[in-house]
Amino acid sequence: MSDNSPAQADSCILLVDDNPTNLQVLLQTLNGRGYKLLIAKNGESALRIAHKAMPAVVLLDIMMPGIDGYEVCRQLKGNPLTEKITVIFLSALDDTKDKVKGLGLGAVDFISKPFQSDEVIARVETQLKIHRLEAALSARNRQLEADNQRILEAMGEGILGIDAQRRITFANPSACTLSGWSESELIGADIFPLLLSNASDPETQSLESSPLHITLTKGSSQRKEDETFWKKNGESFSVIVSCNPIMEDNQCNGAVMLFRDISREKQQQAKLQQALDDAEHQKEKLTHISRLSTMGEMAAGFAHEVNQPLTAISNYAQVCSRFLKQEPLDKESLTEALDKIGVQARRAGDIIARIRSFVKKPQHVLEAVDCNKLISDVVRLAEVDARNNSMEIHTHLAEDLPQLNVDPVQIQQVALNLIRNGMEAMQATENRALGVTVETCLLKDNHMVEVSVIDRGHGLAEDAEEKLFTPFYTTKNSGMGIGLSICETIISSHGGKLGFERHPEGGTIFRFSLPTL
Ligand SMILES: Nc1ncnc2c1ncn2[C@@H]1O[C@H](COP(=O)(O)OP(=O)(O)OP(=O)(O)O)[C@@H](O)[C@H]1O
Ligand SMILES: [Mg+2]
Repeated sequence: MSDNSPAQADSCILLVDDNPTNLQVLLQTLNGRGYKLLIAKNGESALRIAHKAMPAVVLLDIMMPGIDGYEVCRQLKGNPLTEKITVIFLSALDDTKDKVKGLGLGAVDFISKPFQSDEVIARVETQLKIHRLEAALSARNRQLEADNQRILEAMGEGILGIDAQRRITFANPSACTLSGWSESELIGADIFPLLLSNASDPETQSLESSPLHITLTKGSSQRKEDETFWKKNGESFSVIVSCNPIMEDNQCNGAVMLFRDISREKQQQAKLQQALDDAEHQKEKLTHISRLSTMGEMAAGFAHEVNQPLTAISNYAQVCSRFLKQEPLDKESLTEALDKIGVQARRAGDIIARIRSFVKKPQHVLEAVDCNKLISDVVRLAEVDARNNSMEIHTHLAEDLPQLNVDPVQIQQVALNLIRNGMEAMQATENRALGVTVETCLLKDNHMVEVSVIDRGHGLAEDAEEKLFTPFYTTKNSGMGIGLSICETIISSHGGKLGFERHPEGGTIFRFSLPTL
């Protein structure tokens, strides 16, 4: 029945009989029972009224002049608009053959004339009930189908129905949009060459490993996070795909395949990774720049430091020249002076080598390193500054420390930053004569070595805890405030910890731990 049928159509009954008396009897029987009753005296008007009024039930006489009841029934059932109308034949014919013919044309019941009122009422009531239920059921079905369709169309995921021979039996709109193939191109086609492989690249033709193949051959559900599908235009796209088997009699008869295009997510992920790599690269650059800047700040001290052996070399060279002019030649003194030139040249060379290794481009390689040697080297670098400020650096290095597994240049940078901070904190205090102390020790668990840098300077500001390791926090006029944040990054990237405490007698202790080999 069409949706625009009249409101009371589900209780509307059309009575068709060429005999006015019969019609009269039927009218009397059914009147007053809440039905809307219509009458037709022949087949033609029965069809016309049926089309117009869309009754729920037609009580239809068979033997009529012109179009007989069978023909009316055939035409009603042959037209999609009227096919749902329930037809009950009324006839004096009581032959089984006639009943079979009537039922074969789509009628649901047969009432023999002359009829009993109770029988007519009972049969009409039953058929009306069935008719109403059917109408409600088909309306519900239509609703469900429409909902289903809407869901399938609205889904961003592609959905394909596939039979046991890998032929596509169903494709939702997203499957078409994502693949670039139209529904008619997809339906009936083998999915493998269409979506799962690229004809121009035989490398991709591995049917056996595809989730669909496993589902179809093993009857098991499959899911793959990163599968490549191919579009009609030859482009590939990344998908998450899941295949579920359609089982019948314990046999896999096909599969339903769901796939979601994740190309954009993958692009975003790659961009994010690139951004993280860039940030990491920038961090390394900053660490290096900070080392160069420290060296820049210490340049005057280094110049002075290198100048000393150079002056000594120059003096020894003059001495040598004098020795050479003497007769007889004092070879022994000359050799001694030349040896001293060698010693001083090596001293200058050592200083330059230390600076060079400290400012060299980052390679970030972990090596086996002797912690005490590393600290001694860095103390020697820092001593240039210390001497300039008439300060001293003391070391208390634990013996027999296991080797560290670190990037030595980066760890030197941490130690130098801490030592210089310590000296800067003591510069304007009475305690400066006490100098900075650097200690090494093995932590209890034997897997970490701890380095402490102790100063007796002005101590930390009250709010230091929250800000100390934040980039650009500085209380110094000429400071950049990146020293400690770089130290923190370096130590944590080595799997260690950087911390600090206030010295009970004034000053600060910075400690960092590092993993041993
Ligand atoms: N040993 C210390 N004693 C007292 N305050 C300290 C000590 N070490 C660091 N600080 C405080 O922490 C701040 C940040 O130190 P950080 O080394 O990060 O930067 P900075 O020394 O100011 O500048 P730079 O980037 O040149 O090292 C310092 O400005 C200082 O206020
Ligand atoms: Mg600093």
